[in-house]
Amino acid sequence: MEKQLEYLLAVETSCDETAAAVVDSNLDILSNVVVSQNDLHQRFGGVVPEIASREHVRKIVPAIDSALRKAGVSYKQLSAIAVTAQPGLAGSLIVGLTAAKTIACAKNIPLIAVNHLEAHIYACRMAAGRDVFPAIGFVVSGGHTNLYDCPNATDYRLIGSTLDDAAGEAFDKVAHILGLPYPGGPEISQIAQNGNADKYQFPRTFLKEDRLAFSFSGIKTAVLYEVQGQPGSSKIPQKMTTQRRADIAASFQQAVVDVLIAKCRQAIGKYGYRTLCVGGGVAANVLFRTTLEKMADDFDVNLFIAPMELCTDNAAMAGIAWEYYKNGEFSELDVDIKAGMVRH
Ligand code: KG4
Ligand code: ZN
Repeated sequence: MEKQLEYLLAVETSCDETAAAVVDSNLDILSNVVVSQNDLHQRFGGVVPEIASREHVRKIVPAIDSALRKAGVSYKQLSAIAVTAQPGLAGSLIVGLTAAKTIACAKNIPLIAVNHLEAHIYACRMAAGRDVFPAIGFVVSGGHTNLYDCPNATDYRLIGSTLDDAAGEAFDKVAHILGLPYPGGPEISQIAQNGNADKYQFPRTFLKEDRLAFSFSGIKTAVLYEVQGQPGSSKIPQKMTTQRRADIAASFQQAVVDVLIAKCRQAIGKYGYRTLCVGGGVAANVLFRTTLEKMADDFDVNLFIAPMELCTDNAAMAGIAWEYYKNGEFSELDVDIKAGMVRH
């Protein structure tokens, strides 16, 4: 007899997206609601934590209602509720976790706290429709640039990260320098299409070093000096034109992608895996995706990149909770958040 499908409600509020999704026990996504707060944070050039928390308070119940309605699933049909409990902005995480605990309590269903970074990698597994582990996992987002050794779907061992800014953060800060709105990644990749990526040689930190580490603060400063001039220098910076902005954006994007790709290759070489899973907001970048595909072809690597809608923050990727559900690994109702997304 075929096993009956079960349903999981997933909630995600780690940063500035209020998200809820319903994922069935086959890992099919029945709904994936993401309420973006971009317009609220845009004029500040980045996420303002208190504004984010307050907006989650307003949007969390409508987002959950909408996810259930779109999936055609009722509270009664839920087998469990998954929620992002770490890492992220404390005030944001607390809203999602409290909502999820309330539902778990009221409906008497298990609560499963998930790690947002592991979920970013697991998005690749969900989209693949089959097991993808063991693999090198790579989360490239606004808060993290993390490489993981992933022997299986629930084991994520950090093997490399950034010493300062995250890659997405660099996109956001460089966009700000260029006068582009938040979030900067999509804006930069858009205008870079008309730019010359060889025009400016921005630093590619650790590119040649045999070390799984990233640093993006140097490139951000290099762009700042290119645009505004170097402090103490008498050289007057060139006038900003549409073409110059596009050239700077393209050169910056190319430098970041060069480093990301080089470190993926190093990680694969070091750990001997043939599979690479890439997720997080920056994995939505078209140049990064196409360069990854070329690298995977050249070096015979099985590449899984999260599909666009699962790259940026969403609740569906918290479908990783099914892995814990299968093992009967549930969270206590006094589980706390772990914050820890540091923005430099
Ligand atoms: O994963 P995500 O939605 O949130 C975090 O967990 O941080 O990632 C957001 C980041 C932002 O920094 C944004 O600028 C970047 O992902 N991003 C991109 C693109 N789309 C989003 N960066 C480069 N190119 C893109 N197309
Ligand atoms: Zn994220």
